[in-house]
Parts: sequence; structure tokens; C-alpha cells
Amino acid sequence: MIGNDITHAALLLKAGEVVAIPTETVYGLAANAFNGNAVASIYRIKNRPQFNPLIIHTNSTEKLTEWGLQLPQPMQELLKHFSPGPLTYLIPSTPHIPEIVTAGTQAVAVRIPNHPITLQLLSTLDFPLAAPSANPSGYISPTTAVHVQTQLGHAIPYILDGGTCEVGIESTIISFLDNKPEILRYGGISKEKIEQIIGPINDKAIHLSTIIPAEKPLAPGMLTKHYAPLKPIFVGNIAQLLHDKDKKRVAVISFQSVYDNIPIENQFCLSVSGNLNEAAQNLFAAMRKAETLDIDCILAEIFPEKDIGRAINDRLMRASAKE
Ligand code: TXA
Ligand code: MG
Repeated sequence: MIGNDITHAALLLKAGEVVAIPTETVYGLAANAFNGNAVASIYRIKNRPQFNPLIIHTNSTEKLTEWGLQLPQPMQELLKHFSPGPLTYLIPSTPHIPEIVTAGTQAVAVRIPNHPITLQLLSTLDFPLAAPSANPSGYISPTTAVHVQTQLGHAIPYILDGGTCEVGIESTIISFLDNKPEILRYGGISKEKIEQIIGPINDKAIHLSTIIPAEKPLAPGMLTKHYAPLKPIFVGNIAQLLHDKDKKRVAVISFQSVYDNIPIENQFCLSVSGNLNEAAQNLFAAMRKAETLDIDCILAEIFPEKDIGRAINDRLMRASAKE
């Protein structure tokens, strides 16, 4: 059921149920992170491999320290600027956090999401919410309550509706496990913005040219193939792809351009004005629509490799990865 009753969602979560919640990035599939059985249900519902750990969400840094987590200095700097916001911090875990959340690693990913409804919900809870994106494992993340309903509605008692996600792409993940902070996943807060606060930063995020075999993820969960639409997707220069693929029935995902000779209803121009944030917001919904069309494949442009464009390219490359 879809609704906007925060109290009802809180009651279900306190009772160990799984509830879909809105965030500014994508919808999450949430359960009490301190309740191992509740968290196990998330893995079951998503059909998620047990080795892929979950982010925990709360509404305040004070709660994180109450639960025994130590927040490194550069993390505190970032929290000052980007909290609440689409940034996830990977830090050493504590015995409070069940192993099923961290997949047996010594590290836990924490995030304070910036969505008014979910912040209100979290403020009524004395436990964090473990929440992966609310999609079946390996599929495109949901950016509306209806996206969640379509795929997981049968498996969960409640979807808390918070409208269309404003950022539209998952959070940036930054690790503080080593001396030097490192970006593990591009997302809603750009590398550029992070560097403005804490200086130059390494990243282990997937680059356009890097193909990492699915059996050897860089960090738990950094599988190459991800966000996979049901139709094959190819990323590159559209004219070249049209020529190489010799496909007649295609959908196109572009930044600003509209292409001749392709039916307009098969074209998803993500931001006519060339705004990368707007493009990110529209990306997943476009991928979902494109795959329902009567086409052979989806062709997508490479976006400018800067700001949130890096995250867009990352998701497109993963969607197009062979394994
Ligand atoms: O924006 C987001 O981050 C959304 C919303 C719902 O908050 N959540 C999200 O969760 O994208 P998920 O599970 O779809 O992606 C989280 C990523 C996974 O690749 C997972 O492997 C990684 O974070 N992760 C979580 N905990 C980790 C840990 N302890 N060590 C290493 N990687 C971790
Ligand atoms: Mg996900």
C-alpha cells in the first residue's frame, strides 16, 4: 500500500517490518538496523546477495555517537557542509551493529538523508534504518513510490510516499577506513564539492574505461553489472553507435540533443538546458520508460565527466556492462 502516514510507517518499523521510504536520492527498502531478523527480510525481498552490506540511515550525528560510532575529523567537516544530504560515510563499525548489516566486515556505511518526511520518521525512532535502494537486486533504483509498488509492492506492507526523488541518483560513498579518505561510489555530492572542503581525494569509483569482473568487486557490492535495464544498453557516440549496431528500433538517452531519424517518442533528452542535476533526476525514470518501448536496444550518450555527470556515466556504464 502507498501512503503518507509517517506514524503508521514508524509502527511497522518498530514491529520489525520492512517499509519503503523516500529519500532525496532514491527510495530505500528500510528496516530496523538493530533487528537482525528485520534486516534479513530486506535481503530476502530484494534477492540481494548476503555479502553485499547495507547503509544505515539516521537523522542526527548525535545518535551516531550515542551508538558508539567514532566520526573521523574530515568526516565531521563534511557533515557540517553536507548533512543532511546525499553523502554516505564508511567508518569502523561497532558491536551495536549486527553483522548482517555490514556483511561481516568491520565497517559500516552511515547516511543522514535529506528528505523532510524521512527525517521526521527517523526522529521518532531510537534505531537506525538499514536501507538499500528499493529495487530487486541488480535492477534500476526507484525514484517514485510507483516504481517501488510495481516491483516490490506485493512483498512489503507499506510504501511511504515522498514524491519524486530530487537528486535521482544514489548517494556518494566516501570511505574513512584508511588514513586518506576515498570515494567508492560517485553520487549526489560531487567529487569537486568534497574536495572544496577536505582537499584532493582519491577515488576507487568505477571509471569510464575500467571494467571490473563481477566476481571481484573492489569493495563489497561494487559489482560492475548493476542498474541493468531489461533491454541491452550501449553507451557512446550516438551516430557512431547507430552505424555500428545497425539497429533500426532504438531508444536514445541524451543530455541535450535531439536526433533526426529517431521517433521523438523514443528519445529521452534528460535536460534541454544542459543542467547535469536535472539530467540525474530524470535518468532512472527514462531508463525504466525506454525499456518498455518496442525497441531492440537503448543507446546512451556519455555525459560530461564532471560534477554529478560522473555519477550519471557510472550508472550508464554499469547498466551496459556485460557481466
Ligand atoms: O542513496 C543511497 O545511498 C540509497 C538510499 C536508499 O540511501 N541507498 C543505496 O543503497 O544506494 P544500496 O544498498 O543500493 O547501495 C549501497 C552501496 C552498496 O554498493 C554496498 O555494497 C555499499 O554501499 N556498502 C554498504 N555498506 C558497506 C560496507 N560496510 N562496506 C563496503 N561497502 C558498503
Ligand atoms: Mg542499489
